[in-house]
Amino acid sequence: MQVTVTINGEPVARDVEPRTLLVHFIRDTEGLTGTHWGCDTSNCGACVVLMDGRPVKSCTTLAVMCEGHEISTVESLEVDGELDPVQQGFHELHALQCGFCTPGMLMTARALLDENPDPTEQEIRTAISGGICRCTGYKNIVAAVRWAAEHQAATRQEA
Ligand code: FES
Ligand code: FES
Repeated sequence: MQVTVTINGEPVARDVEPRTLLVHFIRDTEGLTGTHWGCDTSNCGACVVLMDGRPVKSCTTLAVMCEGHEISTVESLEVDGELDPVQQGFHELHALQCGFCTPGMLMTARALLDENPDPTEQEIRTAISGGICRCTGYKNIVAAVRWAAEHQAATRQEA
């Protein structure tokens, strides 16, 4: 089947099998391996990407379901060498160890801050509750998202 989709701002048209999962389309067809593939059962959240700005688990989304939609992967966050505030926050607050959950956490955090630029700790915890991190205990992830929210707000005030 033919699928036409925008990935990180670039329109692409590809022939795919109807059963092709979005995570495989992104990683294997498009070569964007920043999106991780963990449980394959919608449990771990490592595969989260944004579809039209909303987080989706790409391991349980068919590529053909993305027809006409905009997909953003973790590769879209850094622009011209400038890290997105959520990436910077994870760096500043040491919010990752092995990094396996990180692409999904970053994209989930990006979507949260786009919708709610000043989330409470509880709102952050609720937003990331679809992702599992085996390393950090979540505390630093929550702190990193708060850091990103504050940093973003300060940058906007300066502009
Ligand atoms: S690989 Fe998709 S939720 Fe785990
Ligand atoms: S940093 Fe290892 S799973 Fe989250």
